Amino acid sequence: MFLPEHMDVERVRRDFPLYTGASKDYIYLDNACQTLRPISVIEAMSRYYLEYPACGGRSVHRLATQVSIEVDEAREKVASFLGAERPEEIAFTKNCTEALNLVAKGRKLLKGDTVVTTDFEHNSNHVPWLQMQESRGIKRRFVLTPPSGMFDIEAFKKVMSHEVKMVSMVHTNNITGAGIPAKEVVEISHDYGALVMLDGAQAAPHQEVDVGQLDVDFYAISVHKMLGPSGMGVLFGKMEHLRTLEPLVSGGGGVSLTTQERAELLPPPERFEAGLQNYAGIIGTGAAIDYLNRLGMQEIRGHEAMLNERATSLLRATPNVSIMAPAEAKHRGSILSFNIKGMSSHDVAMILDEIGKVMIRSGMHCVHPYFLARQLEGCARASFYVYNSMEEVERFGEKVSEVASKFSM
Ligand SMILES: Cc1ncc(COP(=O)(O)O)c(C=O)c1O
Repeated sequence: MFLPEHMDVERVRRDFPLYTGASKDYIYLDNACQTLRPISVIEAMSRYYLEYPACGGRSVHRLATQVSIEVDEAREKVASFLGAERPEEIAFTKNCTEALNLVAKGRKLLKGDTVVTTDFEHNSNHVPWLQMQESRGIKRRFVLTPPSGMFDIEAFKKVMSHEVKMVSMVHTNNITGAGIPAKEVVEISHDYGALVMLDGAQAAPHQEVDVGQLDVDFYAISVHKMLGPSGMGVLFGKMEHLRTLEPLVSGGGGVSLTTQERAELLPPPERFEAGLQNYAGIIGTGAAIDYLNRLGMQEIRGHEAMLNERATSLLRATPNVSIMAPAEAKHRGSILSFNIKGMSSHDVAMILDEIGKVMIRSGMHCVHPYFLARQLEGCARASFYVYNSMEEVERFGEKVSEVASKFSM
């Protein structure tokens, strides 16, 4: 199936400095790891360093006041992008990993409390719970992924019970690209009295997310996967839950008053943002949200679907190439994971870069248990975004075919 062209890609590409000069023929398909940044994000960050490079939230001079205003505006933009009721429900973190850790470690679950995840969580939504299992004696249950690669809602229902205090799941998986029926998961979890956190690192860059409509309790995102600065993430939390969440890091900027004996925490979100913040990063985050809003999330989704559909049909027709489940592109958003018979995924990625300047990711993608359970060494992953063109997809297909015909064993 060929979908109509949704976006003016040539116009979009002009906003991305990488596509000028010597690197203009790079085919960057490692977007699930980190995306490129448009010039508007880079300029917003530079403006901070050039024009008002001060500290927000503390000093009262004019430069500091400007920083505080810009930070507040960025927070408002993120809140409205995610459908949060109020900006105070948005805490800036250094990445999605920190946001997930903040909840896993700050909820203070008790011995015997049970946490449900899938069996294909990114290490960032697996290791913190593993640590809580070791240090606090929480229990874990997993929703197993069937060979189709799709989320199994019946298996989820079977692991739920009143011992479950938290359901923490990837909204869109970073290897399979498959999503979960988030609203249903939230409803079922709430019926059992469990809170829900979604790892939205691979969902928020590609679809409309409305935390209010989902009624989800916590939502973590990774800003560098959605045109924003490196080392930026966000945690959304319902205010009632943020109030009882213990900060991961505490100190200056997170407290209203301290004595030698005690410290009074500031209200959320400031209590989670102790220490001098990455102001350029926060301001760049606001600019990235502006850019995504200008393109439109539905247009982005449509564009990626069109690219993935074509890339999938090209690889499906290539001998010795196998596509990881789910089989159909429409279930995989912007992700296409594959293997070439007899080759390690790292070799595939290196050769594609060498012969075609095609950049993809390889290995186990921080989801080791999923691959180990299936005795797989890893996979190659192409992931598409707003600036990728159909011509690039065609070249990607040609280069994969060249690698498979020359090196497959
Ligand atoms: C599904 C998923 N969760 C979490 C993360 C971690 O994101 P970050 O690098 O922002 O900590 C990633 C990164 O690839 C991811 O794909």
